[in-house]
Amino acid sequence: MRPDLGDQIILLTGGGRGLGRSAALHLAACGATLGITDIDGGSCEDTVAEIRRNGGHAFGWTGDMADRDRVLEIAAALAGECGRIDTVINNAMLLRYEPIEEIRDEAFDRMLGVGIKAPIWGAQALMKHRDPARPAAIINMASPVVYRGFPRTAAYSAVKGAIVSLTKVMAAELGPLGIRVNAVSPGSVPTPGAMGMVSREEYERRARTIPLRRIGREEDNAHAIAFLLSPEAAFIHGEVLNVDGGIAACGD
Ligand SMILES: NC(=O)c1ccc[n+]([C@@H]2O[C@H](COP(=O)([O-])OP(=O)(O)OC[C@H]3O[C@@H](n4cnc5c(N)ncnc54)[C@H](O)[C@@H]3O)[C@@H](O)[C@H]2O)c1
Repeated sequence: MRPDLGDQIILLTGGGRGLGRSAALHLAACGATLGITDIDGGSCEDTVAEIRRNGGHAFGWTGDMADRDRVLEIAAALAGECGRIDTVINNAMLLRYEPIEEIRDEAFDRMLGVGIKAPIWGAQALMKHRDPARPAAIINMASPVVYRGFPRTAAYSAVKGAIVSLTKVMAAELGPLGIRVNAVSPGSVPTPGAMGMVSREEYERRARTIPLRRIGREEDNAHAIAFLLSPEAAFIHGEVLNVDGGIAACGD
């Protein structure tokens, strides 16, 4: 599905690789103008270059999305280029799994910073730079870990569980201002970040046990985001859209 998003200016965080990169490429192919951020400047530049090679419109900025000042600086730069921001996709995250006994302050704080604070900074950036006469949207990234306990994911699950709560609070607070807020919950996609945590054997096992009998693809997530940003989704608000082959609903 390729909805016409030609009038949208989108700030997407963590677009250097994985789900962020594929969503950025797809949204640009739908006509949107992308402002892409990543803590890894090289990969961010690569995504921007590929969008431009494909004839799309994109700008890129290196930055740590846990840093509120930097998020607001980047948002101001994107609004400076394009006049406004219509949508923020809070995709950046540090994927890290470890047993409860091994969790320590520094890594956990990093996950909370990029996973929970950053979406709030993203929302502030949108509120500051949107055109109040136009509809606006926020997409957050949830995960099947919010529905079921997966061993070694305590810190990650705490962040993603909070994202679902945050999505609902944002929907309550920002909906009346004309900002639609939803989350996408992708299931088991072997991105670079995820492959650092999940073995090939485990992905093979999941391909046999996920109700739809395959693991997720990056484009499954990109298509879901494009749909949620389309006019056809204009009354969908405060939702978590599971794009996981049935893991959340009936996975074993
Ligand atoms: N892959 C999956 O199966 C899966 C499942 C559910 C949810 N998700 C969520 O989807 C999103 C993308 O995950 P992914 O699998 O593509 O991960 P990934 O690690 O492959 O990509 C994450 C990107 O975010 C960037 N990033 C990390 N910290 C940052 C920071 N502080 N500031 C700016 N950029 C930063 C990384 O450099 C990287 O480019 C995450 O929110 C993740 O929790 C992924």
